[in-house]
Amino acid sequence: MFSQTLTIVLFGLTLNSVLSASIRDLGGVWQLKDAQGEYSVNATVPGGVYSDLINNNIINDVFYGSNDVETRWVSQKNWTYSRTFIVDQQLDDYQMVNLVFEGVDTFAKIYVNDVLAAETDNMFLQYVIRVKHLIKVGLNELRVQFQSPVEKAKQLFDEQARQYPVPPLCVPDEYNGECHVNHIRKMQASFAWDWGPAFPSMGIWKPVFLEGYTSTLIRHINVEIEENNNTEEWNVGIRVYFVQPLVLTDYITGEVIVKLHTDIDVVTHIFNDNIYRDANDDYTFNCSFSIPKVSIPQKQIGAYSYGCSIHYQ
Ligand SMILES: *[C@@H]1O[C@H](CO)[C@@H](O)[C@H](O)[C@H]1NC(C)=O
Ligand SMILES: *[C@@H]1O[C@H](CO)[C@@H](O)[C@H](O)[C@H]1NC(C)=O
Ligand SMILES: *[C@@H]1O[C@H](CO)[C@@H](O)[C@H](O)[C@H]1NC(C)=O
Ligand SMILES: *[C@@H]1O[C@H](CO)[C@@H](O)[C@H](O)[C@H]1NC(C)=O
Repeated sequence: MFSQTLTIVLFGLTLNSVLSASIRDLGGVWQLKDAQGEYSVNATVPGGVYSDLINNNIINDVFYGSNDVETRWVSQKNWTYSRTFIVDQQLDDYQMVNLVFEGVDTFAKIYVNDVLAAETDNMFLQYVIRVKHLIKVGLNELRVQFQSPVEKAKQLFDEQARQYPVPPLCVPDEYNGECHVNHIRKMQASFAWDWGPAFPSMGIWKPVFLEGYTSTLIRHINVEIEENNNTEEWNVGIRVYFVQPLVLTDYITGEVIVKLHTDIDVVTHIFNDNIYRDANDDYTFNCSFSIPKVSIPQKQIGAYSYGCSIHYQ
């Protein structure tokens, strides 16, 4: 049902999917407006409302003087980010088209061509929204309507307070902060902390893109490398997270090819396995193998373990 090629290189992980799949980045220039229609400017995604207003000379550097307090009105308004995008026939031909937000800060309604596609309430989650039925070949519109996190935190506090109020009722006065951040899943320091001023931002703070695929895709890869002190080898453990296929079959099957480029050669492992659906309807694939220590110097292993990037072809 699928066939994937993983190519692993030191200092980075490259993934070459032999499946056809495609990613359209939706970062770049967006439009930013407040709900009252006072401001309408170009904005940058990924980013946040404070940076966009600074870049448009609407507010000054928020770290200067008491500008943190003077610009607090920004966080009390609702703001909308929007843009248009083109869908071509090639993208529309995939069975699955998802709109993926790596990070939304924080309370937003996401509209695709004026249809509410999703709501977000957690800055730390990735949101994957199925949009195949909402998009069309040609020009499309994407709108992300934010609610003030200060207002939302107060609403959640008030709701809870009908049972009993959850302390603290606010941060200490000296912080010049905002109250009730403990009711929301947003960077807690953004409502002020003892070491920092409050900038309760809103925005699309991580990449956003469209992805099209027909059977499955690799979403994440974890690589763990451990020293085997008995055999003079590195133990390499790889965990691959696939996205859900259109139809939730019990398993997906295919071939995973792992290629590790060392200083002296290319270690290739081919795994022919069924990848079973787990209780959360996720499909993950584990594999492990060993490589002789002499093939990779310690310093490269260290650098490599910090992370990897994924490229689709
Ligand atoms: C806003 O962005 C558009 C598209 O990149 C550009 O053509 C336009 O000049 C920008 N407007 C301002 C005021 O910077
Ligand atoms: C912001 O939006 C929310 C929900 O959409 C609304 O209830 C609230 O009145 C708006 N607040 C402001 C300040 O515009
Ligand atoms: C191998 O030795 C290193 C250093 O002494 C140690 O940190 C590591 O945990 C050992 N690995 C295993 C698998 O025991
Ligand atoms: C893969 O490995 C992880 C931890 O290493 C484990 O929690 C998980 O159950 C394994 N999954 C499968 C499908 O074997």
